[in-house]
Amino acid sequence: MNYIPQIEPWIDQEELKELSEVIASTFITENRKTDEFLEGIKALTGAPYAIATSNGTLALVAALIASDIGPGDKVIVPDLTFIASSNAVRLVGATPIFCDVDRQTGCMDIESVERLIGQGVQGIMPVHLYGQIVDMDQLMALADARGLVVIEDAAEALGVTMNGRHAGTFGRFGTFSFFANKTITCGEGGVVLCNTEADYKLLYRIKNHGRDRKGVFVHDGVGYNFCFTDLQAAVGVAQLRKFGTIMQGKRRVFEQYRKAFQGVNGVTFMEPPANVSSNYWFMNVLVDDPAGLNAHLEKNGIGSRRFFYPLYAQPCNQDLQEPEQPNSQWLYEHGLSLPSGARLPEADIARVCDIVMEFVR
Ligand SMILES: Cc1ncc(COP(=O)(O)O)c(C=O)c1O
Repeated sequence: MNYIPQIEPWIDQEELKELSEVIASTFITENRKTDEFLEGIKALTGAPYAIATSNGTLALVAALIASDIGPGDKVIVPDLTFIASSNAVRLVGATPIFCDVDRQTGCMDIESVERLIGQGVQGIMPVHLYGQIVDMDQLMALADARGLVVIEDAAEALGVTMNGRHAGTFGRFGTFSFFANKTITCGEGGVVLCNTEADYKLLYRIKNHGRDRKGVFVHDGVGYNFCFTDLQAAVGVAQLRKFGTIMQGKRRVFEQYRKAFQGVNGVTFMEPPANVSSNYWFMNVLVDDPAGLNAHLEKNGIGSRRFFYPLYAQPCNQDLQEPEQPNSQWLYEHGLSLPSGARLPEADIARVCDIVMEFVR
């Protein structure tokens, strides 16, 4: 029987064709293909400005530096997220402090954020987890009232909207990842969205050796090299053309799981709230024994992933001495991501559901 991976990119001849053209052009570093990719991202998200970075982690680092966050500052980060969210804060010399999450969405709980605002907190990093989105109207009202900068980690949220507005366009900065497991991929890659030309220029300098354009050797500031390549952009441009088809595929897979798990004791299928249009990045269930189910699925040739490990408990964060966050811990102890590829055949999804039900019965 075929192995069913938890996730796989939808890449084929279309990406190869774009890539061949870029290689033939000999312009392989950040150039016109990158501009084309960024135009596509702006059209999709409605953001006025976008810059490309080497990956999503460095997109966060660039946004934090542009927000002037550094040593002595604290940034509120949800306890349940991929490690890059808190690593980015630590890498600029600031301290992440962890808030709890909402059990229904897995995203930052706004009351928990409110309790942490105070001494030394300069920023908030909402993470739009697994295809869900933080209630950004509520969060922005809170942040604006308290004068805090908001950097949205929308790494997993391309295609997610709330009340029609795209994730990553609410805060001062919004970042995306194009790692191979994301809705669309460039292999590696990142984007930062922002709203003003001033912020765009600031970001561009940070990621381009402290200068406003390439090809000159007078540098106004000290900067990094977080640049993208036209090789990544070639893949990204082909992926953007498939975006609608990928989203349709994800929706189909989501609906099949939703129907199959309806009324099944012992499995809760996670669904987005009514005002959210999800990208169904990962199809998640809550069960009593996710470790056992993960092993049982693997034994049957099916890939799955445990939820992210809570940040407060991460070995690399023990020096922060952060307290346990109950909902984050609970979700870790119950959550499992099932095969979520946009091209999953109906029969494979049915097989996954059968094996899940066999385990929980
Ligand atoms: C929530 C979140 N933030 C940040 C990142 C980092 O992105 P990248 O892997 O492109 O560095 C990822 C995923 O990889 C992520 O899932």
